[in-house]
Amino acid sequence: MSDPTGDGPGDTAPDGSAVELYARLPPGSDPELLHSRMPPGANILDLGAGTGRLADPLVDLGHPVLAVDASPTMLARVRSAATLTSSIQDLHLPQRFDAVLLASHLINSPTKDLRRDLLSSVERHLLGTGQAFIEWHPPSWFDALDPERSYTGTIGDFTTTLEIHSLAQGLLHATVAYQDHRTDQTASTWRHTFTAQRLTRELLQAEADAVGLTIGHALPGAEHWLIASPRPGT
Ligand SMILES: C[S@@+](CC[C@H](N)C(=O)[O-])C[C@H]1O[C@@H](n2cnc3c(N)ncnc32)[C@H](O)[C@@H]1O
Repeated sequence: MSDPTGDGPGDTAPDGSAVELYARLPPGSDPELLHSRMPPGANILDLGAGTGRLADPLVDLGHPVLAVDASPTMLARVRSAATLTSSIQDLHLPQRFDAVLLASHLINSPTKDLRRDLLSSVERHLLGTGQAFIEWHPPSWFDALDPERSYTGTIGDFTTTLEIHSLAQGLLHATVAYQDHRTDQTASTWRHTFTAQRLTRELLQAEADAVGLTIGHALPGAEHWLIASPRPGT
């Protein structure tokens, strides 16, 4: 399976995500949703923060946020959160946080070692009393996909089209196109080709167990966000 790729106007991060796209995409209701599940003023570490699409609104909601990303061009677009360029796997900060975000379905990576290293980074940066918020594609999302068709949706002013190249043995290879309707089509379409692994809660829990994390419930009304917490005594 090929590495993730992206195309469209502007720079692209190594994972295929387009900087200009993420600078434009609206955050939707996720910042308020996450905020509502955290203590007021909770210290947040956003792993894979990109342009600060979630991090900046969380600062506006009263949280100190450290936005970490492998891409300095992504982080250059962050408005108010503190930033640090690093891979998530190699991050070893001296401090721990009340809340750690691992957004954007990074946990659905098809590489088991990477999933373990992402979860390990979440665990080592989380206070014993803290909570992690992990965004995933639930198994039901994969199970509802028909490889013979494409899927169109909307995110704010954007139309998204998911085109499936293959879906076999829980491995999805697909391209998602994002079109911004506020500008002309050629200047405003981005494509991101990626591979995502279907994970069950049991498999994810087994992988989380190995690094001392317990996977809890999904956020009510937002099945794509799972809450995780440090296993007592780790
Ligand atoms: C799809 S973008 C989303 C950014 C942000 N979470 C959001 O929701 O808008 C994914 C981001 O994760 C970053 N990323 C992916 N894998 C990473 C890794 N292993 N270490 C650090 N950053 C990573 C990419 O550089 C990119 O900026």
